[in-house]
Amino acid sequence: MRRPAPPGVQESPFLFRRMVEDDLDRVMEIELQAFSHPWSAELFRRELTHPWSTVLLATEPRPAPEGRREQLLGFVIYWLVHDELHVLNVAVAGEERRRGVARALLEEMSARGRLAGAVLATLEVRRSNRPAIALYESLGYRRVGLRPNYYVDEGEDAIVMNADL
Ligand SMILES: CC(C)(COP(=O)(O)OP(=O)(O)OC[C@H]1O[C@@H](n2cnc3c(N)ncnc32)[C@H](O)[C@@H]1OP(=O)(O)O)[C@@H](O)C(=O)NCCC(=O)NCCS
Repeated sequence: MRRPAPPGVQESPFLFRRMVEDDLDRVMEIELQAFSHPWSAELFRRELTHPWSTVLLATEPRPAPEGRREQLLGFVIYWLVHDELHVLNVAVAGEERRRGVARALLEEMSARGRLAGAVLATLEVRRSNRPAIALYESLGYRRVGLRPNYYVDEGEDAIVMNADL
């Protein structure tokens, strides 16, 4: 649902809602475009059953395949653990990037997290993932640690980043 933006704040052109099972095909399409080691459909299904987990979608009202009236642009998956948000996965469809979708999703996540009592957001990002690091830094995330060989596939280090909410 659209909320009016506070004075001086640009309203997001995107809509947000939680994922339902029906969204799985498009979510998997985005996931497969985004990652060389993608999550499985089963993992997404499992997230939908965890009460602490949110799969938040950014959508746009426009004609989309299969007669849908909204296009699904991207998603963020996060867990609410006590007063922290743990960001597990963020991805935007290839053709929708650099439109501010990820920024809007993370801002919406933070707003929802604050309402739920969260005071900190935390995430891990591959050391080589410059677009994602630039995105997080632009939103005020700080580098607070390094996990060596965190990604077992390629033995890549993870940078740990936090933001106050
Ligand atoms: C990272 C990702 C989610 C960014 O999504 P996006 O919707 O294109 O990002 P936005 O348009 O909201 O960008 C916001 C800011 O992030 C930074 N940014 C985003 N993509 C960037 C890129 N390719 N290069 C440099 N900076 C980038 C910029 O600061 C940008 O602001 P600007 O456009 O005003 O310069 C997207 O590239 C993606 O899905 N990548 C593959 C999956 C992935 O790596 N996810 C993160 C896992 S930790």
